[in-house]
Amino acid sequence: MSAPSGAMRERVRIAIQKSGRLAEPARALLSSCGLSWRESRDRLFCHGDSTPIDLLLVRDDDIPGLLAEGTCDLGIVGRNVLLERASGYGTGEVPPFREWRGLGFGACRLALAVPQAWSDSQAAALDGLRIATSYPALVSQWLKERGIAADVVTLSGSVEIAPRLGTADLICDIVSSGATLAANQLRATDIVLDSEAVLAGPVAPFGDARAEIAGLFLRRLDAVLGLRDSKLLMFQTDSANVPALMALLPDAERPTVMQVDGTDRVALQAVCRGTVTWQRLEDLKRAGADALLVLPVERMLA
Ligand code: PRP
Ligand code: ZN
Repeated sequence: MSAPSGAMRERVRIAIQKSGRLAEPARALLSSCGLSWRESRDRLFCHGDSTPIDLLLVRDDDIPGLLAEGTCDLGIVGRNVLLERASGYGTGEVPPFREWRGLGFGACRLALAVPQAWSDSQAAALDGLRIATSYPALVSQWLKERGIAADVVTLSGSVEIAPRLGTADLICDIVSSGATLAANQLRATDIVLDSEAVLAGPVAPFGDARAEIAGLFLRRLDAVLGLRDSKLLMFQTDSANVPALMALLPDAERPTVMQVDGTDRVALQAVCRGTVTWQRLEDLKRAGADALLVLPVERMLA
């Protein structure tokens, strides 16, 4: 499992969070790309069954480092964690990893949060105050860009209690549902970064069999991500209504129109990329569509 980073390898290793907010959705996404694994007893390394892609189950914060040292080839991690580590590289140094794809889950914000009792003007005057965070590089950069002279206090966890303990005046932390802030009588003010789960990979291309494996995986991933909200829409109508109906379906891709035998009616089917709501179906019905059917799209290979 610990081949040196420079070695030629014939399998790809993807690191994902072992437990936490991103763990389950990351696994589900990989499964929908057709990946499956043999569960190992230690639950740290899972050998890929259906594809030569193995799983490494780790702490999310470790993923950028594992990518940098070549212990894993790809990783699913929060953009916040990835960018924090990338910002830690000095000027002139290029981080060896980068974001390959946004994955559309695990949405959260890295935000400043102040005690609820603070007034807006108090929350806007940060010079000379202490900000506790686990994201010192991102916060320092944000402060610098705005010319704010605040002190950054780096904490590795339990950032939200720092104001109550007196170790900082305010915090900058990840806000997802907002429950943690509310439980600690804090309120979010400025957003430093909008984040979500991303696929991270190396900056340099793979020089061995991993290039082809990663390419196959990316094609599947793009298909899965592209289909997320897609639906197959089917209905019948009089041929005369088709132009008006198509105007209601700007997101329909290459619709198929079939003549219904011996009538001037047509059956139409199209993949719609946007959400097909009840409202849209009712609009179509009013414009002359009937026998409307909306089906999930499981796979598509263009
Ligand atoms: C963040 C943050 C808070 C919590 C906020 O941790 O540090 O503890 O999530 O979520 P809420 O707004 O839904 O209450 P994260 O998920 O990044 O976990 P980690 O720091 O343990 O990796
Ligand atoms: Zn973490």
